[in-house]
Amino acid sequence: MKYDVVYGIIVFAHVVSAVLSIGPLVLLMPVIKRLHGVKEEIEEIYLAIIKVIIRVVMHAGHVLVFSGVLLLILGPWPWYTSWVIMTIAVMLLSGVFLAKGFTFVLRRFHDPGVDKKNILFRLNRTSWIYLGLMLIMLWLMVQKPMLW
Ligand code: HEM
Repeated sequence: MKYDVVYGIIVFAHVVSAVLSIGPLVLLMPVIKRLHGVKEEIEEIYLAIIKVIIRVVMHAGHVLVFSGVLLLILGPWPWYTSWVIMTIAVMLLSGVFLAKGFTFVLRRFHDPGVDKKNILFRLNRTSWIYLGLMLIMLWLMVQKPMLW
């Protein structure tokens, strides 16, 4: 297969995985909002939806990183290009957020005596920060600003 076709396919896969790692995030906040003060059975349903969203975002994120690295190896952009380095830096930050902010907080949801309101507040805040970081990376990737 021609190089251009292969590179094009990987760019497309990269963009699709970017869509899948940002899109489901906007569902997270409205679902978290509906979790306030509901019965336990309903709570379980919303929590299951939140976990699915986080799993989709996580898998898509892995494809995003993998295809991004392939683009760097195969493509014209060296790794030390400023917008690539900035994206990787922001990505490391958001990895921390996804692992700590979501998984850790969700695991504590059923602990006895835990303040659910506080957990939901933190979950909501983490979602907004994560969405913000994703949009910064999207901007860096699309605009490709030469920062230095
Ligand atoms: C390890 C992290 C990443 C690496 C190494 C990487 C690498 C790249 C490279 C080299 C290109 C240029 C393709 C080209 O035009 O020739 C690209 C394009 C793109 N990336 Fe990434 N990427 C990464 C993460 C991300 C993330 C986190 C997002 C979204 C939030 C993203 C979204 C995009 C989009 C939308 C394009 C197409 C933009 C365009 O070419 O006009 N990438 N990526």
